[in-house]
Amino acid sequence: MIKTLVVGCLTLIAPLSAEMKVLAFSGSTRADSYNKKLVREAADIAKQMGAKVTVIDLKDYVMPLYDGDLEAKSGMPANAKKLRKLMIGNDAIIISSPNYNGSISGTLKNVIDWMSRSEDGKPSRDAFKGKRFAIMSASPGSTGGARNLAHLDEIIGRIGGEVMPLQLSVPAAHNAFNAKGVLEDPALKQALKDEIAELLQVQPAEAATS
Ligand SMILES: Cc1cc2nc3c(=O)[nH]c(=O)nc-3n(C[C@H](O)[C@H](O)[C@H](O)COP(=O)(O)O)c2cc1C
Repeated sequence: MIKTLVVGCLTLIAPLSAEMKVLAFSGSTRADSYNKKLVREAADIAKQMGAKVTVIDLKDYVMPLYDGDLEAKSGMPANAKKLRKLMIGNDAIIISSPNYNGSISGTLKNVIDWMSRSEDGKPSRDAFKGKRFAIMSASPGSTGGARNLAHLDEIIGRIGGEVMPLQLSVPAAHNAFNAKGVLEDPALKQALKDEIAELLQVQPAEAATS
């Protein structure tokens, strides 16, 4: 079965694989986070392309800093269990990562560390292996967080996730979004669509319309 979808100025042929289950979140919990805006826009695009998308806020999954003694004594915290189940239940994950000192946020790294453990306190790749990851970043700086994306790519790849090659960095993020929280620049918008199309394995149609 093949679906034809019109996204922006492109007609896209969406194969069944586009009906993927996708989890999306930002590595920043800040209410007005640029990365939350970017992840919401990415999620909307994924929905338009036929995916079933769940957007979450890591603020709803607060968990303690990973500590081996705490894990041995109390096991995996409840929110880490909840988030890990969500990750395991999705085919693909979209992460927008803030740029903190040239790397990812401590919040995001802590989440990844917990997600790389099993409920019985052993290393586990179940939340990453066989899953496709689209990673992106928005930052007020001029590089948009490209350096932190390189770190995130390496971390996720190391624990078994398949990170997509297209990775959008949004520079000058304080000026990049309109009042509705949507990217203003058509080139950045298109780059985000291309990244999500790659994640969902959606092929551009031979003949573009409108
Ligand atoms: C601890 C910390 C370190 C930061 N380091 C950098 C940096 O190295 N380069 C940069 O461009 N911005 C840096 N910033 C600014 C963040 O990119 C900016 O606050 C951004 O808005 C955070 O993402 P958010 O909008 O999604 O919350 C830093 C911010 C914090 C809090």
